[in-house]
Amino acid sequence: MAARVCLVTGSSSGIGAAVVRHFAANGYAVVVHYHSGEDRAARLADELHRQHGAEVLAVGADLAEAGAPGLLVGQAHRHFGRLDVVVSNSGVTSIVPDAQGRPRRYRFPDTPPDHLEAELERVLDLNLLGGYRLAQAALSCMIEQAQQERSAGEEAGHRSILFVTSISDTAPDSTRIPYGVSKAALSHVVLGAALEGGPYNVTVNALRPGIVDTPMTSRPSGVVDPDSGRELTVAETYALMADGGSQPIRRIGRPEDMAQAAYAFARLSFMTGQLIAVDGGFTLASGFENRELFLREGLRRRTSQKD
Ligand SMILES: NC(=O)c1ccc[n+]([C@@H]2O[C@H](COP(=O)([O-])OP(=O)(O)OC[C@H]3O[C@@H](n4cnc5c(N)ncnc54)[C@H](OP(=O)(O)O)[C@@H]3O)[C@@H](O)[C@H]2O)c1
Repeated sequence: MAARVCLVTGSSSGIGAAVVRHFAANGYAVVVHYHSGEDRAARLADELHRQHGAEVLAVGADLAEAGAPGLLVGQAHRHFGRLDVVVSNSGVTSIVPDAQGRPRRYRFPDTPPDHLEAELERVLDLNLLGGYRLAQAALSCMIEQAQQERSAGEEAGHRSILFVTSISDTAPDSTRIPYGVSKAALSHVVLGAALEGGPYNVTVNALRPGIVDTPMTSRPSGVVDPDSGRELTVAETYALMADGGSQPIRRIGRPEDMAQAAYAFARLSFMTGQLIAVDGGFTLASGFENRELFLREGLRRRTSQKD
């Protein structure tokens, strides 16, 4: 029998790359999707084929364009003749440049109208509309496969759609409300798709990461390290906060943590319509609201460990 097939959007980088690796290592044929990272995707495709013998299709697409998600799903299905798991992972933050071309974040009430429009367009076009259209195309393709199996007198196999959303869907952070809105709205897509997919043995869930060490969090955080005078990255800042108590599991996430969760969720055939945080407990400790407190404590602990 042909290998089960998994498509992961945004698998040229970060969480998506770890997810597609995990599926390939477990015997799946995979679709590596990229936007700007054609070379990274080609290297990864080569690695997966050499290390795991996986059949790999690499496809480039800008999923913020209306027709692109449907074309991607169609291409994947035509190439392999089946599609079993679709992970909607592509996403961007709401940070856009100001009039001087510098990336700029404003607090919610202070955002100039033009800047707000640019932020909204960036995250809604890709995170929300791209994810919505992908789910719609994936669900339609999976329902058709189930109907064909039933017409042939077989049981419909289990298939799965998984969204990588974020704890920002419910945990507000004043300088990136548009990002949170794009992820929160996807939660409703999960619920609707789960309702429609269930009768055809298609489960639909969301994996909500906390802070994960990826290229997305390697950007400057605006926090200057008092010892070195160097501006910390977002990942470094949250790692210090984690040590200072912002999450009960005192480290930030690794892409592999998300990959393990994605693989597990996609294989659970009796769980659907669920929005699950994989965040080391960050949301338990209200990390965003108490950022200053946890950062101070993280810095204090670092100093005391050095002494
Ligand atoms: N890292 C975190 O702390 C964190 C926390 C919560 C949620 N998340 C979510 O996790 C997902 C993956 O993030 P990451 O941290 O792994 O970030 P990342 O390393 O920056 O990866 C983002 C992926 O999205 C793709 N992408 C960007 N623009 C695209 C477009 N227009 N069309 C199609 N694909 C596009 C990128 O492709 P190219 O590189 O090929 O351009 C890349 O593969 C995102 O949805 C993000 O919101 C991340």
